Amino acid sequence: MKLELLINGTRRQVEVEPRMTLVDCLRERLDLTGVHTGCEHGICGACTVLIDGEPARSCITLAAQASGSEVVTVEGLTPDDGLSDMQRAFHEHHALQCGFCTAGLLVTLEAADPAEHPDDDSIRELLSGNICRCTGYDHIVAAVRAAWGRG
Ligand code: FES
Ligand code: FES
Repeated sequence: MKLELLINGTRRQVEVEPRMTLVDCLRERLDLTGVHTGCEHGICGACTVLIDGEPARSCITLAAQASGSEVVTVEGLTPDDGLSDMQRAFHEHHALQCGFCTAGLLVTLEAADPAEHPDDDSIRELLSGNICRCTGYDHIVAAVRAAWGRG
């Protein structure tokens, strides 16, 4: 079947099997390998993308379900001339080690309203659906604070 998606601001047509997941479509058909495949059960958050502005697990979403939608991946969060403010904060605060979780975290943060997460506990709760096995989250929270102008 043929789908039409708005991916990172570009309209794309893609041929998929009806059972193909969105993450496989993004990685294998559209070469958007910044989206990671982890648990493939909707648990770890590594595959998080925005669908019409809302974070979604692309491993448990069929590509066909996203037909006609706007999809944003971590590639779409990255300015042509460098890093976004959040990406720079992750870099400066050592908020990643292996980096496997990072794309999903950045996508989750992109959709978040800083005003709804005024302290460290609420930032941790926001990110609780994105499993990081490396950092212990302290540096990630520090990066989010910095990017959100809280020193
Ligand atoms: S790979 Fe999708 S939630 Fe883990
Ligand atoms: S940096 Fe390795 S899983 Fe988060």
